Amino acid sequence: MNNLGKSSGPKISDCKTTAQLQNFCREIGRDIRQGKVKIGRVHYALSLLQTCAQAYHCGYDEVVSVELGVAGGAGLLDMCSAAEHLGPIFGIDIRVVGFDNATGLPAPKDYRDHPEMWQQTMFKMPDPDILRAKLPKFAELIVGDVADTIPGWLEAKPLSRKMGFVSVDVDYYSSTLSAFPMFEMAPEHYLPAMPLYFDDMNTCITYNSRCGEPLAIAEFNERNPMRIIEEKPTWAIRNFHALHVLDHPFRQGTALPKFPLQVVQY
Ligand SMILES: C[S@@+](CC[C@H](N)C(=O)[O-])C[C@H]1O[C@@H](n2cnc3c(N)ncnc32)[C@H](O)[C@@H]1O
Repeated sequence: MNNLGKSSGPKISDCKTTAQLQNFCREIGRDIRQGKVKIGRVHYALSLLQTCAQAYHCGYDEVVSVELGVAGGAGLLDMCSAAEHLGPIFGIDIRVVGFDNATGLPAPKDYRDHPEMWQQTMFKMPDPDILRAKLPKFAELIVGDVADTIPGWLEAKPLSRKMGFVSVDVDYYSSTLSAFPMFEMAPEHYLPAMPLYFDDMNTCITYNSRCGEPLAIAEFNERNPMRIIEEKPTWAIRNFHALHVLDHPFRQGTALPKFPLQVVQY
């Protein structure tokens, strides 16, 4: 296991240049890929590493990491483990929030929700209170349809806590669309290129660009000229995307990050 961030090893505060930061992050990424740190799903941990690296470059010390679609909670607990490991290394306070209706998938609305694959009540959460009891203090579970719960949560979110990472796993085109107001707040709420994971694309034979998550993304991009969700298909992080916040002050050149935002794949 590497000792980055631990009292005996190199510390992030020792990194004075972008190149030193890149090397520091590369070592953390290498240890995650090689399984030297056991923090659950590698694609969650590497995405959250991207979040921490970028937040550090920006000079932000509070972020939120979200899982949309929680089901039994295995993914949310993995996200918590990754946050617990990476937060102290970067000196970043990571809050983890999961959203789910707890009743399983709603009825599919039409072909765009892939009814050939998904049916109502699939992935029902066994018991929200049992999952809540397993969550660390920095995490919470918000139960209800995302169309109802996300607007209220966005209003209450403190501006200081940037949106750092979102895993989108509500399976349907219709549910993904209902969650997208999460990406349409004022630019100051986000990292300049916020890491995103989309679970339901690229794998199954019936996934296509006129259904599901790919269609929701295309419509989002069409509607928002200063925001774009794009995959980094060459990156070896499963289904890794970024929300490019083109109206962010750092991307407009009206403010400067602490370190130039040369954050690469780690
Ligand atoms: C595949 S499961 C999530 C699995 C989880 N991310 C994991 O990897 O462990 C999809 C979840 O999305 C939830 N879901 C789908 N549409 C929803 C909606 N409109 N509002 C809230 N939850 C929804 C379902 O109830 C289900 O629990």
